[in-house]
Amino acid sequence: MIYERVYVKESVRENRDVYTLLFESGIRVIPGQFAMVWIPGADEFPMSFSYTSGLKGFTFKVVGKGTETFSKLREGDSFFIRGPYGKGYMEYGQRATFISGGTGISSLAPFIEISKFSSKRLIMGARSKENLYFIERLRDKVDELIVFTEDGSYGRKGLATDGLRYDHDVIYACGPERMIRKILDISVEKDIQIFASLERMMKCGIGICDSCTINGYRVCVDGPVFSRADLINMPDLGRYTRLPSGRRVRIGDSREMQ
Ligand SMILES: Cc1cc2nc3c(=O)[nH]c(=O)nc-3n(C[C@H](O)[C@H](O)[C@H](O)COP(=O)(O)OP(=O)(O)OC[C@H]3O[C@@H](n4cnc5c(N)ncnc54)[C@H](O)[C@@H]3O)c2cc1C
Ligand code: FES
Repeated sequence: MIYERVYVKESVRENRDVYTLLFESGIRVIPGQFAMVWIPGADEFPMSFSYTSGLKGFTFKVVGKGTETFSKLREGDSFFIRGPYGKGYMEYGQRATFISGGTGISSLAPFIEISKFSSKRLIMGARSKENLYFIERLRDKVDELIVFTEDGSYGRKGLATDGLRYDHDVIYACGPERMIRKILDISVEKDIQIFASLERMMKCGIGICDSCTINGYRVCVDGPVFSRADLINMPDLGRYTRLPSGRRVRIGDSREMQ
C-alpha cells in the first residue's frame, strides 16, 4: 500500500464539530471517492473528498479519537493518505436532485459544483442550525436550495426527505442509512434513478478484509456510491450494520455511523 504524505494548507472550522482540512496533492479524484487517512499514533479511517479540484480537502465531524486528532492539525502539519479509492458519482439524465443528511453534504458538495446538469435541486437536512455547513459554498451552484432542520431552527422544520419531489431524472443521496433506505423505497415506487453513497466500517479500504460488506457488496471497492440496481439487492440497508468486531446488529441497537 502506497501512502502519500500531505501537508495542511488551510484548516477551516465549519461549525462546532465539523472541520475542513485542505491540502495539496497531484492525485486525480472523482467526487464520491474516498481515501484512507492515517495519522501516525492516532488512527486510520476513511474520508470522502469534499474538495476534488485544485486543493484537495476533507470535511469531517469529530466523533472519536482519530477525527479529534485530525481536527487539531494546522497549516504546515502533515498526515498520510492512500487512495483515492472506490467508485464516485456519475452523471445520469438532465435534472438532478441532491439530498444530504448530516455530514453527507461533504461528499456531495464537489459533485454538485462540477456536474453539468441542466437543473439542480439541493435538499439539505440537519438536526439543527448549528449542524449546517456549506450553505454559502453551494447556494449559487444550484437552481433550488431547500434546507430542513429537525428542530426548525433554520429553513423548514422536518426531515430532508420531506422535501423530495419526483420531477427530476435522478436523485443523489448521502447521509444516514435510514434516510437512504427511505429514498430508495420511494425511488423504486416512482421509478426514478438513484445513486447513494454508503458508509460502512472500513479497515483495509481495498477489498481484502470484508469489514465493509453489505449483502455481498464490499462498500470500499464496489461503492461507496451505488446505483439503484445494486441498492435494491441490499436488504440490510438502513436495517442492519456491522460493529468494528464484524458483528451484524440492527441499526439503532448500536451507535449508528454518523
Ligand atoms: C467511505 C467513507 C467515507 C466517509 N467520509 C466521511 C466524511 O466525509 N466526513 C465525515 O465526517 N465522516 C466520514 N466517514 C466516517 C468516518 O470514517 C468516521 O467518522 C471515522 O472513522 C471516525 O473515526 P474516529 O477515530 O474519530 O472515531 P471512532 O472512535 O473510531 O468511532 C466513532 C464512530 O465512527 C464510526 N467509525 C469508526 N471507524 C470507522 C471506519 N473505519 N469506517 C466507518 N465508520 C467508522 C463508528 O461506527 C463510530 O460510530 C466516512 C466513512 C466511510 C466509510
Ligand atoms: S474495508 Fe476491507 S474489504 Fe472493504
